Amino acid sequence: MPRPDLLERLAVQTAERERARLRRRLRTIDHADGPWLETGSQRLLAFCSNDYLGLAQHPQLVAALTRAAREEGVGSSSAHLICGHRSAHAELEEALAAWTGRERALLFSTGYMANLGVLQALLARGDVCVQDKLNHACLLDGARLGGAELKRYPHADVAAAARQLAANPGAAALLATDGVFSMDGDVAPLRALAQLCALERATLMVDDAHGLGVLGDDGAGSLSAAKLGQHEVPLLMATLGKALGCSGAFVAGPAALIHGLVQFARPYIYTTAMPPALAAAALEAVRLAQSETWRRDKLSVLIGRFRRGAAELGLPLAASPSAIQPLLLGGADAALGAAQALERQGLLVTAIRPPTVPAGQARLRITLSAAHEEIHVDRLLGALETLHLPAALRVPGGDHV
Ligand SMILES: Cc1ncc(COP(=O)(O)O)c(C=O)c1O
Repeated sequence: MPRPDLLERLAVQTAERERARLRRRLRTIDHADGPWLETGSQRLLAFCSNDYLGLAQHPQLVAALTRAAREEGVGSSSAHLICGHRSAHAELEEALAAWTGRERALLFSTGYMANLGVLQALLARGDVCVQDKLNHACLLDGARLGGAELKRYPHADVAAAARQLAANPGAAALLATDGVFSMDGDVAPLRALAQLCALERATLMVDDAHGLGVLGDDGAGSLSAAKLGQHEVPLLMATLGKALGCSGAFVAGPAALIHGLVQFARPYIYTTAMPPALAAAALEAVRLAQSETWRRDKLSVLIGRFRRGAAELGLPLAASPSAIQPLLLGGADAALGAAQALERQGLLVTAIRPPTVPAGQARLRITLSAAHEEIHVDRLLGALETLHLPAALRVPGGDHV
């Protein structure tokens, strides 16, 4: 049999995706101005970014970035363990540890790499890694990289997670969950999971990419909102590219964990450290996220306004208290059609389709930001009203608010 050609195989898979009308497409944004995006000749009001606090274009972040770039240059020039670890990184790590109430923090270049790094460093063949079915892709990939047996429990089903742990009493175990689920916006049952992990002597890891900055009194995230400290949740991962408006990520927890990651987390060791100017901008973002509490207050007003309006329209909302407010539309064509109809009205809300979400659960992933105004939310609601969603998808008003 002749050797298969890899590029041909990939082309066949891409064509299959096109035939299934599930092909993903890149769009180039020419200019961003708060929630407004320009692409080609269009100016669109976006409800799909993760800039939840509206910090991405904050003048103080831009000033911190440019000042540090002027003084230190652009690139860090090497990995952290060679000569890339600068004082801007160290200062940011200290600020992140203090904010999240953890002993130490360690920066990674992206959240994807942080999750790969933690799971690869901690897990080994023979271990068990129990995860919520709706966890972000990089947590699932990390468990595979670590070589552990991956067990996925139905979404937020603590009893099912308990059964999976109990079935492997002798194996070292890690239970990983998103804090706020990226495509659904709901919060994991964190306290119940922490109790389960304590009972089963399993290590709990929470990916709070979408909770940091948004939840908790001082924006310290879903663990702070659930009053769970480092003892209950030794492994916290969160990103700098969402509510903090920058890019990158960190892991926070006990000093011994961080020391171990520096030794064994390959996606930390074998890569160039993030630009120090980016770390300087992220430090400014941490300070603003803590001090400018009006951003969280405004976001929460906008979330309430959207949910009330959507409920009045009978729209199929999910039970989400966060900035992520998905509108579940079922079929991929329905979601794509709705996104295109909104775009014709000047709104950008991307359709999320399989395989990012399970088949039959395509949706509009609507996200709100402190950069939005109430009139923006009203404009979105007005446009959603014109979509004429199939009656089967509608829910009685108020049920999910
Ligand atoms: C829950 C979650 N974890 C991790 C990531 C990855 O973070 P990053 O974009 O920094 O790679 C994302 C999204 O990007 C996410 O939604």
